[in-house]
Amino acid sequence: MKVVSVVGARPEFIQAAPLSRAIRTRHQEVLVHTGQHYDYDMSEVFFQQLSLPKPDYNLGVGSGSHARQTGEILSRMEAVLQQEKPDWVLVRGDTNSTLAGALAAAKLCIPVAHVESGLRSYDAHMPEEINRVVTDHLSDVLFCPTPTAMDNLGREGLSQRASLVGDVMYEAILIYIEQARRESRILKELGLQSKSYLLVTVHRAANTDDVSNLQGIVAALNAISEPIVFPVHPRTRSRLKEYGLVLGAHVKTIEPVSYFDLLVLESDARLVLTDSGGMTKEAYIVGTPCLTLRDLSEWIETVEAGWNTVVGADTVAILQAVRHFQPSSERPALYGDGKTSLHIVEALERYVPKQSPI
Ligand code: UD1
Ligand code: UDP
Repeated sequence: MKVVSVVGARPEFIQAAPLSRAIRTRHQEVLVHTGQHYDYDMSEVFFQQLSLPKPDYNLGVGSGSHARQTGEILSRMEAVLQQEKPDWVLVRGDTNSTLAGALAAAKLCIPVAHVESGLRSYDAHMPEEINRVVTDHLSDVLFCPTPTAMDNLGREGLSQRASLVGDVMYEAILIYIEQARRESRILKELGLQSKSYLLVTVHRAANTDDVSNLQGIVAALNAISEPIVFPVHPRTRSRLKEYGLVLGAHVKTIEPVSYFDLLVLESDARLVLTDSGGMTKEAYIVGTPCLTLRDLSEWIETVEAGWNTVVGADTVAILQAVRHFQPSSERPALYGDGKTSLHIVEALERYVPKQSPI
């Protein structure tokens, strides 16, 4: 079996690590990097740290508007797929790389598998929601991380293509957490004591491209007295500058960190404040309470379990939760058995093509 795996943005590199290993034990993988993320600390650092194979193709699309970026990936991906003629195209999550990879394959009648399928915010203004809905409907096989995702697909008539396999980022944590603890020096470098700082990340368009939301978050961070570590996504850095927003000295704004450093920062934080989907899950898995800096979370199980609270970008709501939010004493396992990538490979092997994916 020949599988083309499409990656382009930071969380896709992390997700690709366990999957790539599992595919390559029995099959041929062709790794395509779209080039959506390209800075060293948004891309190359993950390939080095996670020993990901060097991409067979780098489409080099870089940044741009949604249409330009998606269109460039679509057209460059088509050429790769025509050359490689794979049995499967594997896409993940909800980025522009995900959508363009799935669309290029579907148009060439190449079966598409979507990993981390079935998440929904039901917010049509969110670029990721558009990407994930279209990708799910284009894909032949849908791999869901949670029962909620399965239910969401059921409501759209997609149950027959869907299977519950657990979460591949949970598997990544199981594989890498001990190594991260051994190798990371980040706490020492930043002079942090365990459980006595907050970890913050912000990168969603709804926060970065809306000045009042970014202002609301910055005002909350400035009003907190505890030390804060804030690895800043490049898009957020440019917006903070553009809007003239300044963070207090107790907020250590640093460049994006490696996956191992991030895992250690998450594990040792008293609280994670984030609009990141990946970090919401990771905080739960490592047992750190989380405040979601959005108006909803697709990872609703973490909220229901009492470890995540949705506070949006409202300064008062953030500050109240920073002071008073207490996680529940129970933390049930939510993300499968840790063998998600094996379940995915086995499902691809078993697949019998149907008449039409659409
Ligand atoms: C993208 C995904 C989002 C995902 C996130 C992971 C889409 C629509 N969004 O958002 O779902 O959560 O990746 O981090 O696909 N930039 C750099 N260097 C880089 C990459 C980006 O400077 O290596 C800057 C550019 O100015 C770019 C901006 O960040 O315009 C946004 O990058 P982009 O990939 O378009 O979206 P993300 O916000 O990263
Ligand atoms: N991450 C990282 N360094 C950082 C910030 C995030 O390694 O400075 C990792 C994090 O562990 C998580 C993933 O990147 O697994 C999440 O990516 P991001 O927040 O950019 O996107 P999302 O998950 O919201 O799509």
